[in-house]
Amino acid sequence: MIAIYPGSFDPITYGHLDIIKRAAGFCDHLYVAVLNNSEKKPFFTVQERINMLAETVKDIKNVEIDSFSGLLVDYAQKKDARYIVRGLRAVTDFEYEFQLALTNRMLDGNLETIFLPTSTEYLYLASSIVKEVALYNGNIDNMVPPNVKTQIFDKIKNTKGEF
Ligand code: PNS
Repeated sequence: MIAIYPGSFDPITYGHLDIIKRAAGFCDHLYVAVLNNSEKKPFFTVQERINMLAETVKDIKNVEIDSFSGLLVDYAQKKDARYIVRGLRAVTDFEYEFQLALTNRMLDGNLETIFLPTSTEYLYLASSIVKEVALYNGNIDNMVPPNVKTQIFDKIKNTKGEF
């Protein structure tokens, strides 16, 4: 079974890592695919996000980091994947995720979305929250891996917090 875990990953958090580990447990091959979409104004470049993901999951053998642009269904077809993995936190995620899943299925009837409920300790976690806490010099040790933490604080220093 080949699956895709798509997202912005700007940057990867422990919440994402939890989903990756669990999905890798039941997939033969899992592509973690960073959306390369020029409309969004990301904090990290696609390459920086790929590098952080790769470093974080380097010990998980059946996980491959990649990026994609355009439609997710087209990328899935290219990779021969019939499953999309998405994490669900609170009820607030549901409407958007449902819309995404149904749109993808409308575009490609063979594509199934698998929702994994986030582990409770990461219920509140979002990349945007991590960046905000870091901007005000808060403690993000429980939110992101050490390599990501370093990169976030470096980026804030280099951009003087302009994001
Ligand atoms: O981490 P995110 O930002 O919630 O991930 C959203 C993502 C990348 C899964 C979604 O925006 C996506 O798949 N974009 C690709 C464009 C696409 O296929 N759109 C049609 C489905 S709405």
